Amino acid sequence: MKIAVLKETAAGERRVAATPETVRKFINLGASVAVEAGAGEGANIANDDYVAAGATIGPRGEVLKDADIILAVQGPEVAEIEGAKSGALLVGALNPFGKRERVDAYAAAGLDAISMEFLPRITRAQSMDMLSSQANLAGYKAVLDAASEYGRAFPMMMTAAGTVAAAKVFVMGVGVAGLQAIATARRLGGQVSATDVRAATKEQIESLGAKAIFVEKVAGIEGEGTGGYATEMSDEYKAAQAELVSSHIAKQDIVITTALIPGRPAPRLISDAQLASMKPGSVIVDLAVEAGGNVEGAVAGEVVTRHGVRIVGHRNVPSRLAADTSALYSRNLYNLLSAFWNAETKALALPDDDEIVKGARLTQSGKVVSERLLG
Ligand code: NAI
Repeated sequence: MKIAVLKETAAGERRVAATPETVRKFINLGASVAVEAGAGEGANIANDDYVAAGATIGPRGEVLKDADIILAVQGPEVAEIEGAKSGALLVGALNPFGKRERVDAYAAAGLDAISMEFLPRITRAQSMDMLSSQANLAGYKAVLDAASEYGRAFPMMMTAAGTVAAAKVFVMGVGVAGLQAIATARRLGGQVSATDVRAATKEQIESLGAKAIFVEKVAGIEGEGTGGYATEMSDEYKAAQAELVSSHIAKQDIVITTALIPGRPAPRLISDAQLASMKPGSVIVDLAVEAGGNVEGAVAGEVVTRHGVRIVGHRNVPSRLAADTSALYSRNLYNLLSAFWNAETKALALPDDDEIVKGARLTQSGKVVSERLLG
């Protein structure tokens, strides 16, 4: 089987879908690997490093020619992979909800598309889960981005000239990114509190040594929908949450927001009035900015100042740590494909009835087949 690794074309995308480590592993499975020249540049991997691992390097057309499997980070447009053979498997973070029409185009081009974001979040798929691997590092980076915008220190420091107070850090949304943000802010010496709508996170927050700030006494809320994700909350809950946040947020120096609801716009957690109640010089990092934003006034791709508060809205935060996120994402891809590799035929065989395959497959034999897209 020939595996093609594309150089990403999306603006600001520095990650790559294979590293020399995973190239070696694929070759050990009996595959051949062709990497587009310059694919590893953004992650500090030279063409020669891929060659040393056993890959060939070439221009896109050559790399795609006769490829059975095409690996990408963000999904390419069909026009960008002209020359790929019909029936080739395209595997990437294909953004199926955001790029719905492109999924149709993959089907029409005869490409069998697998979306890494649609893998079910079951134990067996944990090592393949790119949402987790990328969110983890994004949560870490969000805290560093906040620290670099903040005109003060994180830890409490006792100096001969007096005491520097610890930064108060509030993390809103405690999924994978939020948990890592809590841990990172604690390591830097911040005084950390956190909130979520899912009651199960209370214990997780406390086990990381942070204070849990939760809405209580609102009937009928659990906040946990299918697959461990959050659900949209009732109006009563939203009002209680806004009140709680208002009293807490005015005392915070740093806020990291990560709240997402699958398939829906990100919930609005901080209003302009709440921003205005914060101390000048405070910093907010909105990790949900590309999904509509948790913070009123956050702008995707920009750092803006409102009411004296810096609001950081970097796009594609995982790409800001491209060497590590590429290494983890590449392993996610390898773990997925190697789980379905037939050792005898040295070929990939994706069983139609497997839960992982069923969840992640978008198109097959010219048709869109994903239940999440069709249903
Ligand atoms: P996510 O990125 O979808 O959302 C981030 C966080 O925002 C979530 O904790 C969510 O509850 C929270 N949130 C949503 N609306 C909110 C609101 N209005 N106010 C405050 N917080 C709000 O979540 P992520 O990181 O993808 O994790 C989702 C779930 O998946 C978690 O339960 C996690 O433990 C689970 N998971 C399971 C895995 C597995 O078993 N393979 C792997 C990774 C995660």
